[in-house]
Amino acid sequence: MSQYHIQSLEAYFKVYRESVNRPEEFWSGIAQDHFLWHKKWDRVLAWDFEKPEVRWFEGAKLNITENCIDRHLSTKADETAILFVPNDPNGEAEKISYRNLHERVCRFANVLKNHGIKKGDRVIIYLPMIPELAVSVLACARIGAIHSVVFAGFSATALSTRINDCDAKMVITSDGSYRGSKTIDLKGIVDQALDDCPAVQSVLVAQRIHSDIHMQEGRDHWLAPELAAASSSCEPEIMDAEDPLFILYTSGSTGKPKGMLHSTAGYMVYTAYTFKNCFQYEEGDIYWCTADIGWITGHSYIVYGPLANGATTLMYEGVPSHPDCSRFWQIVEEHKVNQFYTAPTAIRALAKESLDFVNKHDLSSLKVLGSVGEPINEEAWHWYNDHIGKKNTPIIDSWWQTETGGILISPIPYVTPTKPTFATLPMPGIQPALMDENGQEIHGNQVQGRLCIKYPWPSIARTIWGDHLRYKDTYFSAFAGKYFTGDGALRDETGYYRITGRVDDVIIVSGHNLGTAPIEDAINAHPQVAESAIVGYPHDIKGNALYGYVTLKSPVENQENLCREINQLISQQIGPIAKLDKIQITQGLPKTRSGKIMRRILRKIASNETDNLGDISTLLDPEVVKSIMDEALV
Ligand code: WT7
Repeated sequence: MSQYHIQSLEAYFKVYRESVNRPEEFWSGIAQDHFLWHKKWDRVLAWDFEKPEVRWFEGAKLNITENCIDRHLSTKADETAILFVPNDPNGEAEKISYRNLHERVCRFANVLKNHGIKKGDRVIIYLPMIPELAVSVLACARIGAIHSVVFAGFSATALSTRINDCDAKMVITSDGSYRGSKTIDLKGIVDQALDDCPAVQSVLVAQRIHSDIHMQEGRDHWLAPELAAASSSCEPEIMDAEDPLFILYTSGSTGKPKGMLHSTAGYMVYTAYTFKNCFQYEEGDIYWCTADIGWITGHSYIVYGPLANGATTLMYEGVPSHPDCSRFWQIVEEHKVNQFYTAPTAIRALAKESLDFVNKHDLSSLKVLGSVGEPINEEAWHWYNDHIGKKNTPIIDSWWQTETGGILISPIPYVTPTKPTFATLPMPGIQPALMDENGQEIHGNQVQGRLCIKYPWPSIARTIWGDHLRYKDTYFSAFAGKYFTGDGALRDETGYYRITGRVDDVIIVSGHNLGTAPIEDAINAHPQVAESAIVGYPHDIKGNALYGYVTLKSPVENQENLCREINQLISQQIGPIAKLDKIQITQGLPKTRSGKIMRRILRKIASNETDNLGDISTLLDPEVVKSIMDEALV
C-alpha cells in the first residue's frame, strides 16, 4: 500500500530503486492494490523495443470508467467529480457529483450504442471545454469505443484528415463554442470537414451557444433529447488490458499527424499513480489543470488520472484573459483551488500584465503549482514562484509527451527539492538515458545529450494508428533498443534533468507541438510559392514563434497580400495556432548538395545569431546565405 503514495525523499529513492531493480513486482503491486479488475493479469510485462512491442498486464480484464466512476460511488457519490467553470464570468459553476457523472456517462454511452457504435469503433470528439467533452470521452470508454479528441481550435482540413486517418464512424460536436467574448461556429467547421469524410454516419450535436445551425437530415442529431430518452444505466464493456483506449494525434517533423494509440490498463495505472504523486492530491482537494482535453495533458490530468483517484477536477471553458487577466486567479480564489497546473506560455502572458490582477485575489489555498508543455524559462519560473506561489508553494516542472501518456520526469512536491528550469528526477519506473551522437550512452553527471528511455513504462503509446513502421522509425530506430523522445537534455551534478528542447524539426509554439512539414505543405499549396522552410525563433510569450522563408515561382507585386494569403492557407489547413509571425520572401534556400534544406542556418538568421553560422561549406551555394541575410522582411 505504502508504495502508491511517496511522501519523503528517502521513500522516493527507495521506491525508485525497487522500480528499476524489479519493475514487474513494482507495477503489479501498484496495480493490484489500487484498481478494480474483473480478472488479474497472467503476465505483468512483455516487451521488445526492437519490434517494437509492449504489453502490460496481459490477460487482465477491466473497464477504466468503472475505476474512474463506479468504484467511488459507495464512498463519494455526492462529492464533486467535475467542477465546471463556464466562460461567462457571471455564469454559475456546475458541480457534477460522482453519482451524476455516472448517470450522464451511462446515458451518453447508451446514445452511442443506439447509433450503432460498438467496441473498437472510432469516435471523433470535436467539442469545447464543456462537460459533454469529458462525458463523451468516458462514454466511449464505457462501451469500448476508441475516442479521438480533436482540439476544437483545429481547422476543417485538420479535422477531416484525422477523421479519415482513423476511419471514424461518428463525430461529436456542438453548435458552437465561446472564446472570451467571441463565439466560434464549430458545427460549420464540422460540416465543411465532412464534405471529405464519406465514412461518417452520424454527428451528435450538443447545444452550447444556441446559434442557428444547419442540421443534415439523417446524419445530424441533437444530443439533449437523445440523452433524455436514453437509459441511465449501462453495464461497462469488459476490456482486455491491451485493448485500445484512445487515439490522439500529434504532429511529427514530417508527414501527416501521428495517431498515437494508447491502451487501457497500463495507461490507467500510470496516469493514476503519477497524478497522486506529482500533485500530492489529498481527499477533498480541488485540482485544476488549465489545459484543453484536446491535448494529452487534458486526457491524463483532467479526466483519467484525477477521476481514477476520486478527485475533484476543475474544468474551465474559457481563456485566461476573459473578462480580464485576473480570471485564473479569480477562479483559484473562488473555488479554493489547491493544485494548479498550467503551461509556461500562459505564465509568461500573465506575467506581462499588472500584478494587481494577481494581488487582488487570495491565493492561499494553493499547495502545488505545475508547469508543462515546454521548457519553463528562469524568469517565468520566478514570477510563478514569487507571485503565485508566494515563495512557499512547490513548482513541479513536469516533462512528458503525448507519446508517453503520463509524466515521466518531475519533482514530487514537498519531496523533491526543486531547482528553477529543471524537471529534476524520473518518476518510479522511468529509466532515462542521455545519448551521444554516435549512439553511445553518456554515463555520469554534468553531461548533455539526446534523451531516451531505456525501459518500458505502463502508459507508453503502443503504436501509431495504421502505421506501425512509422512508429518504429520515429521512436525506436535512432538509438537501438531505446525509446527516443526527440528532446535534448542535460543532467547536472546531482543527477537532476533539465530538458533543453526539441532536437528535431518539431517546434513548440505556445506549448503546442507543431511539425514543420505540414505547415510547409500548406504554404506550398499557394500557386505562387515554389518552396518554403519554417523555423522557430525565440518569442517572449509564445516561447517560440514561426518564421517562414518562402521562394516564389515568379515575382509578385504585392508581397503583403501574398503573406496574408499564406497565413490564411495555414489557418485553413491546420489552424490559427500555426500562423507565421514573420515571412521572408527569399531568392533561395540554403541547401546541401544532396538537396536537404539546412534549417540550422535559417534558425540562426531568424534568431539574429548570425555571428557564428557554423560550417556552411557543405552548402551547394554558400552565397545564398548572404543574400538571405541582406533581404528585408516584408
Ligand atoms: C514535447 C511534447 C506533455 C504534455 C504537453 C505536451 C515538450 C513538455 C516539458 C517540460 C520542457 C517540455 C518537450 C516534449 N515539453 N513538457 N516540462 N519541459 N519541455 O505534449 O504536445 O506531445 O509535446 O513538449 O519538447 O517532447 P506534446
